[in-house]
Amino acid sequence: MADNLGGKVALVTGGASGIGQATAQAFARAGARVVVSDINAAGGEETVRAIERAKGIATFVRADVTRESEVVALIDRVVAAYGQLDCAHNNAGILGTPMVQMADYEEETWDRVIAVNLKGVWLCMKHELRHMSRHGGGSIVNTASVAGLIGGRFGAAYYASKHGVIGLTKAAAVEYAQQSIRINAVCPGFIPTPMTEPVLGMSDDAEARQRERNPMGRLGTPEDVAEAVVWLCSDSAAFMTGHGLVMDGGLVAQ
Ligand code: NAI
Repeated sequence: MADNLGGKVALVTGGASGIGQATAQAFARAGARVVVSDINAAGGEETVRAIERAKGIATFVRADVTRESEVVALIDRVVAAYGQLDCAHNNAGILGTPMVQMADYEEETWDRVIAVNLKGVWLCMKHELRHMSRHGGGSIVNTASVAGLIGGRFGAAYYASKHGVIGLTKAAAVEYAQQSIRINAVCPGFIPTPMTEPVLGMSDDAEARQRERNPMGRLGTPEDVAEAVVWLCSDSAAFMTGHGLVMDGGLVAQ
């Protein structure tokens, strides 16, 4: 199978929940040994157990992506555990609450969202790229969002951070294209996960309204994203770099 990742080692941040949990499981199904990382240790350990129940190989490493020392220690732990790092899904992210109009948006919310969603992706890439450029290459996928392509309400820092992730992805792709490192992004539409619970809680018809926004008339699943991440990391996507791959039921095609 062209997208078989047998013999590879994959890292997933934000792997305790939602999209990251699904990607960690998809990497394992494709044959990779997986390092699941998150600040939520209980959730991360549960992802590892789910992979092991399916006869995959995984380990959990706690790391806060906003702290460089923890990211350095994370990459060291990946290499200590499995000897290499071939694929990375930089996926940890937060929505930022309260969700309010820009004129009421709080500085504290802004700083936290930018720290996790943008600085966190940069810090992870920084240390993944150092390792991959010394060891013959690799593939990185950052989780952006349709919020990195279009604007929307009540999430100033979220929209700004996700547009930033697209920019970082393109900059890294250009810098490392000659070092056999491909860097792409995924841009999911609305997916029910713990992160999006506050959005669905905003009104009784919030879920129906999200469904109606996209032409397919359904919400996405974490697996819709996970399969694309694994494919982007595989040799099937060997000529793709600097790309933001959209899975949104047609939302931004309108
Ligand atoms: P989630 O809340 O289920 O998962 C996010 C994970 O990131 C959690 O396990 C959380 O503990 C972890 N995390 C938060 N801060 C962290 C930090 N400082 N260091 C390490 N880990 C941290 O949410 P979901 O939906 O799975 O989100 C994953 C990514 O997908 C995020 O980047 C999000 O912005 C993005 N996304 C989600 C969409 C959705 O509709 N659910 C749509 C588009 C993008």
